[in-house]
Amino acid sequence: MAKTQAARLAEAAALDPLWQTIRDEVAASAAAEPVLASFLHASVLNHKTLEDALGFILAGKLESPVLPAMLLRELIIDAMAADPQLGQRARADIRAVRERDPAAHRLSEPFMYFKGFHALQSHRVANWLWREGRHSLALFLQGRTSEVFAVDIHPAARIGQGIMIDHATSVVIGETAVVEDNVSILHEVTLGGTGKESGDRHPKVRRGVLIGAGAKILGNVEVGECSRVGAGSVVLANVPPRTTVAGVPAEVIGPSDCMEPAREMDHRLGRRGGCC
Ligand SMILES: CC(C)(COP(=O)(O)OP(=O)(O)OC[C@H]1O[C@@H](n2cnc3c(N)ncnc32)[C@H](O)[C@@H]1OP(=O)(O)O)[C@@H](O)C(=O)NCCC(=O)NCCS
Repeated sequence: MAKTQAARLAEAAALDPLWQTIRDEVAASAAAEPVLASFLHASVLNHKTLEDALGFILAGKLESPVLPAMLLRELIIDAMAADPQLGQRARADIRAVRERDPAAHRLSEPFMYFKGFHALQSHRVANWLWREGRHSLALFLQGRTSEVFAVDIHPAARIGQGIMIDHATSVVIGETAVVEDNVSILHEVTLGGTGKESGDRHPKVRRGVLIGAGAKILGNVEVGECSRVGAGSVVLANVPPRTTVAGVPAEVIGPSDCMEPAREMDHRLGRRGGCC
């Protein structure tokens, strides 16, 4: 017996509840804001999967005369089909932004409008190309992403999931940097080299870390899990786990007082009471 439309929708929602929620939110927006309706249909409602919609959205933003949207969209969708982790990580990133950013009221908002999310997903495609040995195309995509979003992440940088890059303008992440899961990074953060080292020369940021706006973490230093780096700090040495550092150059100012600062997004420095 043929399935009803309602049964098909219920099945799809059970398989991918996050995508279904995004679709529901966007359908409500399209009804409430007719000026955006055709954009919302083209970007989300006309697509069966989150991966298809993401390919459409990113291609529309990153297209250029030498790499038109149709070709770019195919490339992004091929990457996500070849490595299903790309889509799973995108879902974890959407949840991270929704949970941590007080300005994100719905799951659909980072997906549709937040350039930190878009730049990160573009990096994930560039990183896949890099791992496939397609270095020229990966570097092309890095350059285009930097032009469009003002976020410059080398395609070889290894970035986990559940990452929020908030506001995102002027974020720079170097070639040998590692960012583990559930990290939050504010705008104007650099994970760069000192300029004095070669080879493995970039920071290693462990899980759960919160990096405040404008912080510069330089060299092959480790920021231990669940630590916090104050806004505007210059970090030149290892940061122990569960520690707060701040200043230029950064110094330890106390424990991080949080189970996972990246999730709590508590930027107050020098607290001793515990925020969890
Ligand atoms: C300049 C730089 C390489 C430091 O080089 P250096 O002369 O070898 O300095 P050191 O790391 O030995 O530090 C010397 C002192 O200056 C301090 N210092 C170093 N860089 C500093 C900075 N940017 N601001 C303030 N103080 C700084 C150090 O804490 C140290 O202080 P101390 O002697 O009291 O311990 C590095 O800090 C820097 O700023 N590099 C720029 C790299 C960059 O822009 N990278 C981004 C790439 S995307």
